[in-house]
Amino acid sequence: MAEFQAPVGTRDVLPPESARWAALVARFASTVTRAGYGLVVGPMFEDVGVFERVGESTDVVRKEMYEFDDKGGRRIALRPEGTAPVVRAFVQHRPPVPFKAWYVAPNFRYERPQAGRFRQHHQVGVEALGTDDPDLDVEVVALCWEVARGLGLRHMTLLLNSLGDDACRPAYLEQLKAFLATKELCKEHRDRSVENPLRVLDCKRDECRAATAGAPRMVDHLCDDCRPHFERVQRGLTALGIPFEIEPRLVRGLDYYTRTTFELASGALESAQNAIGGGGRYDKLTEALGGPPTPGIGFGMGIERLLLACDEEGVFAGPERAVDVWVVDTTGGEAAGALAHVLRDAGIATDRSFDERSMKAQFKAADRSGARIALVVGEQEAAAGEVTVRDLGSGEQTTVPAPDVVDHVRKLLGE
Ligand code: HAM
Repeated sequence: MAEFQAPVGTRDVLPPESARWAALVARFASTVTRAGYGLVVGPMFEDVGVFERVGESTDVVRKEMYEFDDKGGRRIALRPEGTAPVVRAFVQHRPPVPFKAWYVAPNFRYERPQAGRFRQHHQVGVEALGTDDPDLDVEVVALCWEVARGLGLRHMTLLLNSLGDDACRPAYLEQLKAFLATKELCKEHRDRSVENPLRVLDCKRDECRAATAGAPRMVDHLCDDCRPHFERVQRGLTALGIPFEIEPRLVRGLDYYTRTTFELASGALESAQNAIGGGGRYDKLTEALGGPPTPGIGFGMGIERLLLACDEEGVFAGPERAVDVWVVDTTGGEAAGALAHVLRDAGIATDRSFDERSMKAQFKAADRSGARIALVVGEQEAAAGEVTVRDLGSGEQTTVPAPDVVDHVRKLLGE
């Protein structure tokens, strides 16, 4: 075993798996840029305060954050999630609203690693700031759904809830607290139900499940602003043909949420790690980070989880091959270099062997790469200014003048 291993809860993504990863990100980018979202690239670490504003009773912040003092004595945290950093950037730069951003970035959470749960995971996501129009909620939820559908995923449930706002949530929380006070809860929530009673609704332990069976539901206590907002979101999704289930227990793990919250659960994954994406509104977060009142909504999707779900459903296999063409050169390698350069310049993915390997070894490498065509330059071809073009599938081959190679390859590739 190698002396050093990737840290517990992290993994290396190498080719060819990484090609599938890149293809997923490209799909995501094209879906969301078509809807007007622009890429935001930000730091992987922030002042710890940025995340503390997310809410002190958020587990991700309270227990799982990677925090340290840097050499300048600043208290730093590796980003555990992607929303607070985008909002911090919004407050700092004040771009015009609506501000529609997307990102792809690693997140760090000191969790107990298991299948589909990592200490460094990666999310693709969007954030949209500057309006509380429920049509934006519909747009954002629909994008999340479409990304997963676009990968070919079919066994999914979209769970939807509303967590209300400052007008209706406090009174609801009091009711919920009073209800829970008479119940037997699990060990963790016995103490914490007062601090954050919503979290009890989300608890998977039997005691809490039983205790909350008849608990009051936020959706039944929405105020006159939140109720029509939630209804319009539902109408909008229905109009787009996107199926959803109202899940009053969906409270999400982060404390900044208001109104619309949602999660995409994969029926192909173990239930403990079946969330392939989640998000919602956070209409107070911008103010919490020192900005002007600015509502916002977004979602994040775990790349590792999306790919696990794709594996389970047998979809989105990713690119079949790394290159289309392999150059086999038995004249010393310089001709391969020149030919590969010409093909690459013409936009044809091409690779070659190095170290003057034998012809057999070079063909083996060509096969392993998945290339469809081998271009062969031997002494004879070099002397005649020609190249032999072999279709690696059928085994057929012809010899063509060197200047015609690109056209010939294009034809064979069906371009
Ligand atoms: P989250 O639900 O904590 O939300 O994470 C979003 C997604 O990231 C999850 O649905 C899951 O697919 C993936 N994920 C989370 N933790 C892990 C982990 N330890 N290992 C593997 N995958 C994981 C957020 O982070 C919010 N910032 C989403 C959001 C954006 N809300 C509004 N805007």
